[in-house]
Amino acid sequence: MIILGIETSCDETSAAITSDASQILSNIVVSQIDIHKEYGGVVPELASRKHIESIAWVIDRAFVEAGIGREKIDCIGVTKGPGLIGSLLVGVGVAKAMSMSLNKPVCAVNHLHGHLFASFLERGDLEFPFVGMVVSGGHTTIFNVKSVTDIEIMGKTRDDAAGEAFDKVAKLLGLGYPGGAIIEDLAGKCELDGIKLPRALMEKYNLDFSFSGLKTAVLKKSEEIFGIRRIDNIPGSFHALAYDREDPDVDRNLRRICRGFQEAVLEVLVTKGYWAARKMGADKLVVCGGVAANRALRERFAIRGKALGIEPVFPSLPLCADNAAMIASRATFLAREGIFDDLGFGAASRL
Ligand code: KG4
Ligand code: ZN
Repeated sequence: MIILGIETSCDETSAAITSDASQILSNIVVSQIDIHKEYGGVVPELASRKHIESIAWVIDRAFVEAGIGREKIDCIGVTKGPGLIGSLLVGVGVAKAMSMSLNKPVCAVNHLHGHLFASFLERGDLEFPFVGMVVSGGHTTIFNVKSVTDIEIMGKTRDDAAGEAFDKVAKLLGLGYPGGAIIEDLAGKCELDGIKLPRALMEKYNLDFSFSGLKTAVLKKSEEIFGIRRIDNIPGSFHALAYDREDPDVDRNLRRICRGFQEAVLEVLVTKGYWAARKMGADKLVVCGGVAANRALRERFAIRGKALGIEPVFPSLPLCADNAAMIASRATFLAREGIFDDLGFGAASRL
C-alpha cells in the first residue's frame, strides 16, 4: 500500500511516500527553525505563512524522490492535530484538495499516534500490544498501544512537556532555540557533577509528569550562581541572566546546570517509562518524539532496559523529530482497517 503522508503541525513542512509502512520511498522535511530562532520559539502566524509557501514544493519533491506518479498512491495520510491550528489547516486543506483531484481516500492522523507508529517503518518485528512514550516539544505521554484503534493513555505531563522544558531552560539561560541539542551538548561537556535538581511526582508507579517546577528550580539556582537582572523588553521573557560566557567559571557552572537539568529529566523519563512497560508485562518500550534524539537519553534507556530485560526501541534520528513518514506509517495501519475520513473533518489544536 503506497501512502502519501503530509505533516504541518508545528514548524516542519513535510511530505513522505511510504510503501506498506515498511519502506520509506521519500521523506522531505523543510524546517522553519531559522525563522523562529530569533524569537526564541515558534511564532504561530509565521509558521502557517511558511507552510503555505513550502507545501506544494515539498509534496512535489516527495514524488520526484520516490520516483512515482501521483496516481500510484492508494491513500493520503495527514496530521489533523494536535498542533498549531493555522499550520494544521495548511496540511489538511492540501490533503483534501489532492483527495478530490486524485480521487483517493484520506486518513486524518493524530500527530502523537504518528510518532508512536514511526517505529514500524524500521522495526518489522514490532507487534501489538506495545508500550510507547512520546517525548516531544509539545507532549510527554505514555501510551498502551493495544491495537490500531485501541490506544490508551497511561500517563502524561500535568504542565510542561519534556522538550518544552529543554527549550524554556535554554531560553532562560540565554542559550538559544531550540534548547534540546544545545543543552545536550553543554551537559556532555561537563567534567564535574551536575547540579542536583528536583524530580517531581516520583511516588512509585505514578506515570504522570511535571517539569515546570524543575524549570523554576533551574532559574533559582542560576540566579544564585550568576546573579540576575530583570529585563522587561525581551519578547516572551522577562528574565535575562547577567553573566559573562567568556569567564571559565561561568562556563563551568552553565555546564553543571545543563548536566543537572538533563539528568533530572532523563531519570524521570527512564523510571516512568519502564514502570509503564513492567506494568503491562511488555518486553519492548518504544521511545519516540524529538527528545528521543538525545544521545544521553538513548544510552540511559539502553542501560536500564538491559538490567530489566526490556528492549528500548528508538526511531532513527530523522524519524524522532517531526516528519511525514511517521504520519504515512500510521495512515497505512488505518487504511488497512478501512478507516478513512470523509472530507468534512477539521483540524484540531487539541485532541
Ligand atoms: O517531536 P518534535 O520534533 O516536535 C514536537 O512534536 O514537539 O520535538 C521537538 C522538541 C523540542 O522541544 C526540542 O528541544 C527537543 O524536541 N529536542 C531535544 C533534542 N533534540 C530535539 N531534546 C533533548 N535533546 C535533544 N538532543
Ligand atoms: Zn511531534
